[in-house]
Amino acid sequence: IAREIHDDIGGTLTAIKCELVPCLDNSSRAPEFYRNKAAAVESLVDMVIDSTRRIALDLRPGVLDCGIVAAVRWQAREFNQRTGIACVVACNCEEIMLDGDLAVAIFRIFQEALTNIAKHAHAAEVQVKLSEADNQVYLEVTDDGCGITRPDMNKVNSFGIRSMRERCQQLGGHFYIQKKKEAGTEVMIRIPVNGRVSSRDRLGGQEG
Ligand SMILES: Nc1ncnc2c1ncn2[C@@H]1O[C@H](COP(=O)(O)OP(=O)(O)OP(=O)(O)O)[C@@H](O)[C@H]1O
Ligand SMILES: [Mg+2]
Repeated sequence: IAREIHDDIGGTLTAIKCELVPCLDNSSRAPEFYRNKAAAVESLVDMVIDSTRRIALDLRPGVLDCGIVAAVRWQAREFNQRTGIACVVACNCEEIMLDGDLAVAIFRIFQEALTNIAKHAHAAEVQVKLSEADNQVYLEVTDDGCGITRPDMNKVNSFGIRSMRERCQQLGGHFYIQKKKEAGTEVMIRIPVNGRVSSRDRLGGQEG
């Protein structure tokens, strides 16, 4: 529950902050700008209300009903609209059939990787690769920002990297994060795809 609150509600609150920050500088803008921001914040607050209910009822995120590939593409678009940072998604297939727990874990790890980029990276572009090969699902999220340092990875009161690693380990997978040589940070996960489920289960599934 702590991980769900952090990765979902924490991420949406970061998005609300991204919308509000430009309203707090001294530039005078057209009323239209503030109306658009208010509408964006309202829809994000609706998302927090929905997420609170879903987390309390132990339900998986609704966007996963469309499958992990569509969910990742949707989250990338939302992130780009919110932050102005380009977010390019490449997948080696139309859809990857995953059981409920695995889809939720990958989606939450992706959300936290993006939230970290919005909060810390000062990046201009994010590259996302989602793929399936040899019974493993892979997710790579690479930004071109300032790059994570070793002490950053071991901050005592930081929860996000720990949460991403724990989610992977619980599913028998691996989590890697590193500063890239040129610039930026790379998050990579690899998790075995075990219990494949029918699309009926996938559509109606609850998070376990
Ligand atoms: N993409 C990134 N680029 C640069 N620095 C990063 C990136 N991702 C994480 N970091 C650094 O790693 C630290 C730890 O990240 P982590 O997600 O664990 O915690 P956090 O984002 O600070 O807080 P939270 O507990 O809300 O997630 C961050 O504080 C930041 O300094
Ligand atoms: Mg974080």
